[in-house]
Amino acid sequence: FPNPSIKTLQKPSILSTPCLKSSSQSVLTESLSTTPANARVKILSEALPFIQKFRGKTVVVKYGGAAMKSEALQRSVITDLVLLSCIGLRIVFVHGGGPEINQWLNRLGIKPNFLNGLRVTDESTMEIVSMVLVGKVNKNLVALINKAGATAVGLCGTDGRIFTASPSPNAAQLDGTGQSYNINADTAAGELAAALGAEKLLLLTDVAGILENKDDPESLVKEIDVRGVKKMMDDGKIAGGMIPKVNCCIKSLAQGVKTASIIDGRLEHSLLLEVLTDEGAGTMITG
Ligand code: ADP
Ligand code: ARG
Repeated sequence: FPNPSIKTLQKPSILSTPCLKSSSQSVLTESLSTTPANARVKILSEALPFIQKFRGKTVVVKYGGAAMKSEALQRSVITDLVLLSCIGLRIVFVHGGGPEINQWLNRLGIKPNFLNGLRVTDESTMEIVSMVLVGKVNKNLVALINKAGATAVGLCGTDGRIFTASPSPNAAQLDGTGQSYNINADTAAGELAAALGAEKLLLLTDVAGILENKDDPESLVKEIDVRGVKKMMDDGKIAGGMIPKVNCCIKSLAQGVKTASIIDGRLEHSLLLEVLTDEGAGTMITG
């Protein structure tokens, strides 16, 4: 559009950072809209102690998985962020690339390459990863947040040297000076939370949280301390993709983050549930 009207710069309320690197929903929405108004204001008033506790505090939210793939869940995450920001929380939003990175690599005929479950990002892959994450996914999320009424600024790890990285021991074939790295979004969020002195780290994922028995979705561990999760790892109860997630929670807690939660991104408004209710929406790990 020619001549857009430009307003003065606003102080960002949400920082959005890409890492360089169902059906229960409608039930929830419907049941809320049929809940009598007096019950709804009661719920609102029960959130007061949490609002008072977390106002002015930094909360880092890592966004990926199902919550990123479904439009309805994406809307719910965005409105939750805007609400949390409106009540005074300082939100830093760290996102992955969702399905878009693979879609674009496919379109351009670049074959994904994995080593021990981790993507190996060579130079030509990195070019696409950064175009998609920084140029497309990040700007789209910033626009959605702004449209929903908050003021977001989108940054990537290279901006202002937010992240510096060195190669892992088995990445000898990759590096060069000034080389960009594709960093796992959980790792990035954990380190960012620690560096910012965040109150909370919230990781949205595709399971209910940490399960006592990973094959039993009913066996959710609602709250656990670092000793407890370390024991679960030693006992082999935490496996696969959950191990790096839990390790990055442990690392951020060791550096002063008060709580780290692994929450169910498949559940509408799981962010509000976790932050503003006693019960939460997953597993909260304490130091
Ligand atoms: P994301 O894609 O959100 O980063 P991952 O798929 O890497 O998450 O990690 C979550 C996976 O970890 C679950 O789908 C589950 O298969 C596995 N997992 C292993 N142990 C557990 C456990 N104790 N509780 C929950 N999930 C577990
Ligand atoms: N809303 C409270 C908080 O954020 C409690 C959250 C409890 N969450 C849980 N998964 N047990 O501190």
